[in-house]
Amino acid sequence: MRDNEVLIGKTVVLGVTGSIAAWQVPEIIGRLRDFRLNVYCIMTKSATEFITPLTLQVSSQNPVGVDMFERRKEWNIAHVALADIADLFLIAPATANIIAKIANGIADDLLSTAVLATRAPVVIAPAMNPNMYSNRVTQSNINKLKELGYHFIDPEYGKTACDTEGVGRLARIPVIINKVVNLLEKKEEKE
Ligand SMILES: Cc1cc2nc3c(=O)[nH]c(=O)nc-3n(C[C@H](O)[C@H](O)[C@H](O)COP(=O)(O)O)c2cc1C
Repeated sequence: MRDNEVLIGKTVVLGVTGSIAAWQVPEIIGRLRDFRLNVYCIMTKSATEFITPLTLQVSSQNPVGVDMFERRKEWNIAHVALADIADLFLIAPATANIIAKIANGIADDLLSTAVLATRAPVVIAPAMNPNMYSNRVTQSNINKLKELGYHFIDPEYGKTACDTEGVGRLARIPVIINKVVNLLEKKEEKE
């Protein structure tokens, strides 16, 4: 445990999307919890193909949202409430699809709706095939979001799971955590 008074008790809502890099999410949650941050996860349906809600529930020690219309007795946090309680919204890994949806104001599932509803800073860590990442449509969506004040953690160069070499691998976990911590400490202004 690292004691950082500024961070204790702050809430990170972590959006998880359908990328092969989703296996790294429990480690991201663990590193955030080391700072005594509360972590609530929202998964897309595609994300549940890669990692289970139960795994993220156990890692975060909080209920996990997937279905926008689900009603649970023990968890009464609706999409807007999750958007409201966030001190910071992190999407890691972020697919090309969620980036395109956010860039266009689409709100057709719990994650995209909560992102549209939040007033917290949103940090996006893309992970995808290098051709998807360099595609001008994806780059145009990213540039649009940067101009609107969304924060990005650039993916890294390397060999991706689909055996293609290029930029597209999820940034390393310490890089993601540093960005989150800096923003929560308000060391960094909006981009
Ligand atoms: C094995 C596999 C790995 C995938 N990895 C990625 C990925 O890393 N990044 C990405 O943008 N899409 C990836 N996809 C495609 C997404 O899962 C797909 O676009 C999906 O519609 C994304 O939905 P979501 O954004 O709602 O999670 C992958 C698909 C499969 C089958």
